Amino acid sequence: MNDTPDTNAGEVRRSRGAPAVPTKAGVALPLERAVRARAEEGGLNLKPSGRQPTSALEGRGAAAEAVTPLADAVFICRDVNVFYGAKQALKNVSIDIAPRQVLALIGPSGCGKSTFLRCLNRMNDTIPGARVTGSIKLDGQDIHDPALDVVQLRARIGMVFQKPNPFPKSIYDNVAYGPRIHGLARSRAQLDEIVCSSLTRAGLWDEVKDRLRSPGTGLSGGQQQRLCIARTIAVQPEVILMDEPCSALDPVATARIEDLIDELCQSYAIVIVTHSMQQAARVSQRTGYFHLGELIEVGDTDRIFTNPRHRLTEDYITGRFG
Ligand SMILES: Nc1ncnc2c1ncn2[C@@H]1O[C@H](COP(=O)(O)OP(=O)(O)OP(=O)(O)O)[C@@H](O)[C@H]1O
Ligand SMILES: [Mg+2]
Repeated sequence: MNDTPDTNAGEVRRSRGAPAVPTKAGVALPLERAVRARAEEGGLNLKPSGRQPTSALEGRGAAAEAVTPLADAVFICRDVNVFYGAKQALKNVSIDIAPRQVLALIGPSGCGKSTFLRCLNRMNDTIPGARVTGSIKLDGQDIHDPALDVVQLRARIGMVFQKPNPFPKSIYDNVAYGPRIHGLARSRAQLDEIVCSSLTRAGLWDEVKDRLRSPGTGLSGGQQQRLCIARTIAVQPEVILMDEPCSALDPVATARIEDLIDELCQSYAIVIVTHSMQQAARVSQRTGYFHLGELIEVGDTDRIFTNPRHRLTEDYITGRFG
């Protein structure tokens, strides 16, 4: 676990660049850098960089730098562990999550990214045998406080999944569902307004305004994902969790979702799990790297991709691992 300081964390806003990792500040692209380094070194490993060691266990101790608290953190997570039965899937994860910012979580398959995401809205509660320890505070309140209403919590912490999952209802009713059950609209006109504004913010209104009564499942994959995002923002969450939201989408639909993330992070904290480092670099301001259930490092996205502090992170972003 380590959440280490970055001098400019939170200040860098990113815009979409070429398909490769953007180089807004003229910074070398990690993947290109790795390829170049490999070429320069005759295909051998990158030169010794003085980074933290490769072994996860070794790294655990060496990387255990003090967490840097963010003054205005939405989430404060400390020493979060998750067990599925006897198997430990997350180990002492500590991280702060900032408002109005995108945090990307990257790492090899099975390293605990989704498990961590599910901790934030207590979705692990729904998995038999799952046990979470440690402290997770949302706006200063422990999310495991028995007095806290989990349904309300999940309204505050929206979630978008890998596979778009519209309800088997009309487009309108998909978006109206949350506001209805949470009593957010006092009249039909108000509900109409919420549906319209949510679909507009999700960039879908123009495509569906004439077919609001058609089934949500009849939309294309990319449209369905934007519908799910509209459904999420209709209940005015504070945080949006996205677990590989573009992995089932084509590049055009992916670009639209990324534009949307760019837009939405002006209002919400967004935590996105992605297997695409280019996507992490395009959409996020901070990036965290997970390895075998540990958060190896987290910091400013530019810094993680150009100057990772840990050898494990470097191996992953340069394609030598995972
Ligand atoms: N419901 C579950 N029951 C038991 N073990 C689980 C469950 N969900 C995840 N795990 C285990 O916990 C570990 C972390 O899984 P998780 O799904 O969080 O990884 P991930 O980083 O999201 O992987 P991927 O990139 O493949 O989605 C893995 O070893 C996985 O097998
Ligand atoms: Mg996952």
